[in-house]
Amino acid sequence: MAEHPRADLISPDTHGARTHTCGDLRSDHEGEDVTLKGWVDTSRDHGGLVFIDLRDRYGLTQVVFSPQDNEDAYEAAGHLRREDVISINGTVRPRGEEMVNPDLKTGRIEVNAQELNVLNVAETPPFLVSAHAERQMDTGEDVRLKHRYLDLRRPALQQNLLLRHDVYQTTRSYFDDNDFAEIETPVLMKSTPEGARDFLVPSRLQPGRFYALPQSPQTYKQLLMVGGLDRYFQIVKCFRDEDLRADRQPEFTQIDVEMTFATEEQIYDLTEGLMADLWADVEDTTLETPFPRMPYHEAIRDYGTDKPDLRFDLKLHDVSEVFDGSGFRVFQSVLDDGGHLLAIRVPGEGNMGRAALDRLEDHVVNEIGAGGLIYFQFPSDGSEMTQNLSTDAMPKKYGKEAAEKVGADTGDLVLVLAGQAPDVHHKAGQMRLFLGEQLGLRPDPGEGEDQFVWITDFPLVEYDDEEGRHVSMHHPFTAPKPEHVDDLEVNPEEVEARAYDLVLNGNEIGGGSIRIHNRETQEQMFDLLGIGPEEAQGRFGFLLDALRYGAPPHGGIAIGLDRLVMLLAGADSLRDVIAFPKNQSGVEPMVESPDWVDPEQLDTLSLRLELPPDLEPPAHVARHTRLAS
Ligand code: AMO
Repeated sequence: MAEHPRADLISPDTHGARTHTCGDLRSDHEGEDVTLKGWVDTSRDHGGLVFIDLRDRYGLTQVVFSPQDNEDAYEAAGHLRREDVISINGTVRPRGEEMVNPDLKTGRIEVNAQELNVLNVAETPPFLVSAHAERQMDTGEDVRLKHRYLDLRRPALQQNLLLRHDVYQTTRSYFDDNDFAEIETPVLMKSTPEGARDFLVPSRLQPGRFYALPQSPQTYKQLLMVGGLDRYFQIVKCFRDEDLRADRQPEFTQIDVEMTFATEEQIYDLTEGLMADLWADVEDTTLETPFPRMPYHEAIRDYGTDKPDLRFDLKLHDVSEVFDGSGFRVFQSVLDDGGHLLAIRVPGEGNMGRAALDRLEDHVVNEIGAGGLIYFQFPSDGSEMTQNLSTDAMPKKYGKEAAEKVGADTGDLVLVLAGQAPDVHHKAGQMRLFLGEQLGLRPDPGEGEDQFVWITDFPLVEYDDEEGRHVSMHHPFTAPKPEHVDDLEVNPEEVEARAYDLVLNGNEIGGGSIRIHNRETQEQMFDLLGIGPEEAQGRFGFLLDALRYGAPPHGGIAIGLDRLVMLLAGADSLRDVIAFPKNQSGVEPMVESPDWVDPEQLDTLSLRLELPPDLEPPAHVARHTRLAS
C-alpha cells in the first residue's frame, strides 16, 4: 500500500479524552488547561507563531503554537494542512484586544498550545471545506456529492442536519403529547397508486414476484385505523420513481398522520399546532393560527396554481370579456375556441424598456411555453398607452378597458396571456412567479415572512387526456364530499373531495384527506378510475375486505419533512437538508448507486437483463444480458 506522503507526521494520541469541544471555550475558562480535538480549518504562520483554527461540529477555536512553549510542537504545527486531524493540549488565554473576533462564540479567547498530536493527515480535498468558505458554487455538485463526507464538514450543512434533528424531536413530542402512537409500517410492500412509478424489489423466495417500496404508507395507516389504533403517526421514508427536481427526491421523508373519526377541522388544528411548535422551537417565532384557507378553484383563478405564493400580490384577472370583438386575431381565435385571456397588472413598470419587455417575452415564450405575450404600458408621465406592434390594429380602448378591469393606472404595465384553461392559468401562474422574482417581490429562501395557506375543495378527479381516463387529484382513497356523492357517476369532474393541501411560501409541504370508509363507495371510486372489479380485488382486495368489517371513518395528512426543513433552513434544494441525497439523475455519486449487480445475484432472483443496444454493461454482467432488438 502506498503510504500517505505526510504519514510520518502522525503520532499516538497521548492526551486522552478531550476536555472541551471547539465551540465551548469562553473568557470564563481563561487560565484552564484544556485538551481539544478536531480538524485543521485553516493554518497561518505569522512571524514566529503558527495559528490554527481548529474545527468540529460545535465551532472553531483559535490555537497558537510558539517555539518558546514547545519547539517540536511548533515545528510540527508548521506542517499541518487543511483537514488534518489533531489533538492539542494547552492553556486558555485572552486574545489581544485587536484580535477579538465578535462573530465567533470562542472569539475572545485562544488556546496557547503546549502539545500537539497529529491523529491523521488529509490529502488536499477536492474543494475547500473551511468554515469560512461559503458554499463554492464553482465546485460542481457531483464532486461535492462524491465526497459528501467532506461537504458534510461545512458548518452550514451541519446546521441544516441539526435543524432537521430538532424537527424530529419536536414532532415526536408533539404527537406523543396528543396521544398519537408511532407505528412502523412495512418497507417491502406492494404497489400503491400515489401517482408516481414504484421502485421494485424482486423476491427470491417467490420467484418472479416483486415487492414495491411504498410511495407512502397510505393503505397501511388506513388499516391501522380499521385495527382500532385510533391515532397514528410515523416519520417515514417514502419512495417514488419520478422525474427529479430541486424539491423532489426519489426517497424522501414524510411526517405521516392518521386519525379515527377525524374531521377536516381536527386535521387543520392538529397540523397548525405542529407548525406552531416547530416555529417556536426551531425559529423562535410565534406563528399566527389558524392559517388562511383558499378553495382550489380560487387558487387557480387568482394565482394559476394550487400552491400559491401569497407573499406578493400580482394576481391574475380574467379579461376575456373585455377583448371579445376586439378584432385581434390571436385573441379572437382563442376566445372562439372557448379559451381565456388572463391579465396581470404589474405596478410601477409602465416605463419598462423595450429590451426588458423583449427579455420578458422571450422567457414567457421559450421557458414557460406560452404562444406570446401581449402588453399594454401606461407611462408614468401620463403619455399615451403603448401596446405590442402586432396588436397595432386593435383600437386602444380595449387595452384601456382591460387596465380598468385589473385596476391598473398611470405608471403600470398590464400583461396578457391567451390560451385554454387550465393550461393558460398554469402559464400565467409561472409568469407571475417569474415577475415576482424579477421585480424583487418574491423573498429569497429564508427571507421574508412565512405565509401558510390551506388549499381546500379540490376536485376529486380530473380527466387525463394521455391515459384517456379519470385520475385522482390526490389518491383513490380520498372521500368525495357527501353532498356530491350522487354526481360520482353522472358528473365526476364536478365532484369535490374532502382533501386539503398545506402550502408554505409557494411550496406544497403537505396533503391529506378524509378517506372513504365504505366499501361500496370505494368500489365505485375504483370503477370511476377505470380499475375494474377484478383488478380492484387483485390490487386492493386487502383494503376492500377490511372495509367490510366495521371500518371507522378516518382521515389524515402527510407533511413533506424534507421540504419543511428546507424552508425552515432557508435552503433552496432538498439536497442541502438530506445527509446523503441523490443527484438530478437519481444517482448517489459517492457509493455509486444504483449499480450493476453480479449475474449470480440475478440468477438467484430468476432475473435476466434485456438492455437497450446502446448500453454497454461491464463484461461480467454482459455475459448474462440479452440486448433488446
Ligand atoms: P402526497 O403525495 O401529497 O400525499 O405527499 C405528501 C407530501 O410529501 C412531500 N413529497 C415529496 N417530498 C420530496 N420529494 C418527493 N418526491 C415528494 N413527493 C411528495 C410533499 C407532499 O405534500 N398518502 C398521502 C398523504 C395522505 O393522504 O395522508 C401522500 O403521500 O410535501
